[in-house]
Amino acid sequence: FIIIEDVSDQAEVGRHRDEWRMMLAHDFRAPLTIMHGTLRAMQDLGAGHPLSADDCDLLDNAVRNSRRLDDLIELFLETTRLEDGAMPIQATGVNVDLLLREIVREEAPVAKAHGLKLTIGAASALTARADPELLRRATTNVIENAVKFTPSGGTITVDSAPDFGSVLIRISDNGTGISPRDLPRIFDRFSQGENARRGHGLGLGLAFCRAAMNAMGGDISAESEEGSGSVFTLRLPVMSGVEAKP
Ligand SMILES: Nc1ncnc2c1ncn2[C@@H]1O[C@H](COP(=O)(O)OP(=O)(O)OP(=O)(O)O)[C@@H](O)[C@H]1O
Ligand SMILES: [Mg+2]
Repeated sequence: FIIIEDVSDQAEVGRHRDEWRMMLAHDFRAPLTIMHGTLRAMQDLGAGHPLSADDCDLLDNAVRNSRRLDDLIELFLETTRLEDGAMPIQATGVNVDLLLREIVREEAPVAKAHGLKLTIGAASALTARADPELLRRATTNVIENAVKFTPSGGTITVDSAPDFGSVLIRISDNGTGISPRDLPRIFDRFSQGENARRGHGLGLGLAFCRAAMNAMGGDISAESEEGSGSVFTLRLPVMSGVEAKP
């Protein structure tokens, strides 16, 4: 048999589906903003009359979740814009070690609250060409995943290394790991592994990371052994002719 598939049609269908999702995500935001604003206004009334302490707890929960939904929609729209090359990138020289130290300082209390140790390993002393804000968000996303998928008592290490004209940022954990079946799909939008808890997350974080790294001329990859842990590697071009200052 020879099987011939009309891939041009499939690409067309994929494009339409993406446009449709973009419109839907965009249109979700207006009513959500109103809901969020209304909930915040009620929250400002505070406990006492007409709200009981229990009412306030319910409201806090609703506010938190409407904000989370808004963040997820924003993440989806940004990922799609990055993939389409429609989001401006502010590339500049980034002192990778300095940025990693800042991120680790910010995330360390979160890790500690989960009973995890978050540490800095080897440093590369290199300047990468990157959008500092996008790189910060991509790295933070990967660290937050490591926190989420590493049981209490575990360790997360962040290090950087030079590699033939590139800077590598590595985030290693000794958590649950990822099954070989899930590994090829983790960077796809709305893809979550079997280790993800139902109702927690949408599977957008790593899709955003991949889109951000590609938009900066880099990439992201993962290696993992189920039950032992994972290593995520973010690669960026070195800013040529520049040495990072200590
Ligand atoms: N450090 C890690 N250890 C084990 N599994 C991981 C790790 N990082 C990612 N994964 C797997 O990859 C999947 C996709 O990750 P991604 O960040 O895109 O989604 P998520 O964290 O489940 O949800 P969201 O990021 O939208 O809140 C996860 O559901 C999980 O199965
Ligand atoms: Mg995630």
